Amino acid sequence: MNRRAIVGRGRLLPMSGASTGATGAIDGPWVLVLERDRVLEVRAGELQPGDPETVEDVGTALVTPGLVDSHTHLIFAGDRSDEAAARTRGERYTGGGILRTVAATVAASDEELVRETRLRLLSAAGRGTTTIEVKSGYGLEPMQEHRLLRLIADAAAGLPMRVRRTHLGAHAIPAESDPETQHELILETLPEMADAADYIDVFCEPNIFDLGWTRAIAEAGAINGLPLKLHADQLERSGAALLGAEMGALSVDHLEQVTEEDARVLAASSTVATILPGPALMLGAGLPPARALLDAGATVAVASDANAGTFGEPSMPLAIGLSVALGFTIDEAVWAATAGGAGALGLDGEIGRIMPGAYADLVAWDTEHEGAFALRLGGVRPLWTWFGGETDD
Ligand code: NIG
Ligand code: FE
Repeated sequence: MNRRAIVGRGRLLPMSGASTGATGAIDGPWVLVLERDRVLEVRAGELQPGDPETVEDVGTALVTPGLVDSHTHLIFAGDRSDEAAARTRGERYTGGGILRTVAATVAASDEELVRETRLRLLSAAGRGTTTIEVKSGYGLEPMQEHRLLRLIADAAAGLPMRVRRTHLGAHAIPAESDPETQHELILETLPEMADAADYIDVFCEPNIFDLGWTRAIAEAGAINGLPLKLHADQLERSGAALLGAEMGALSVDHLEQVTEEDARVLAASSTVATILPGPALMLGAGLPPARALLDAGATVAVASDANAGTFGEPSMPLAIGLSVALGFTIDEAVWAATAGGAGALGLDGEIGRIMPGAYADLVAWDTEHEGAFALRLGGVRPLWTWFGGETDD
């Protein structure tokens, strides 16, 4: 029923291996059989009798799973380019600017937020992202956080990409509040937030939400059915990555300050280590130990972290290219942007790989080899994208 095939003569990277970097590259000819929105079969060789009669041919284009951006903050208003300029003159990033975005976001109308967020989602999809996570976190006050979670869904309505929502009420302390009050509010309102979110996240930093607050919010999230993702060890080594591993977090993200010993603990856990190369390279506040994580055997994801203050581009081809600058091989980088991201969202087996049973989320690129992501930093473009087996053209 509703079967069709895609054929190619170039490279197909199914991401069939379990370890970071195991792309399982197939050199063409190859055949992919789809049934409805899923992959039924992937194999090397030519079409055979019995294969579907409807066939799309991608020629020699490189084909990968649709890219998975497992960490973004795409819903916001305002412009903080002035802070980026100040950082080029040596100013340190402390997270304080988040409150400027909160003020602009709270002042913006629903229509403006939906329009701007939708444009950012479309920009990501145009660069090969088929699944994206979007966090709240620029509302802070519970009604505003809930509004942002609702508006993320409104912005995504009718778009073919998969959009997952994360409640990040623990992103900053409002100027008129204090950590204890903000913490209590988050705990009190979690049941209502849980209906509008898929995950919970905390910006865990000693002066923002410390380990104790983070653990309590994570526990309350678990009780309300929200798996944990953490902003961990970005500005200071707080021990958040280790807390996440201990608590069975889906992912711990940023990791600029983790040690090689932390990397070994993460590698021995089920938690995905998510590297955000854009802000890591642009903030100048330390680089994550990418090679230590990869060499220890951690499951690693890369994501854009597109947000209002530290890195603005929701481009996964750019994130892949920049992760090479952090020491990833190209195989590790592309795997981390697909299968790794799927793991970071708890969706391994559903997305991020071209395998029987997975959604047929695929990209045929304007190149014949994955090395182009390193060669043409951010410039590699989809020729065709399939979202659950449907092309968007
Ligand atoms: O992931 N680190 C915390 N949150 C965002 C930045 C938020 C902002 O500065 O607006 C991040 O980099
Ligand atoms: Fe972030």
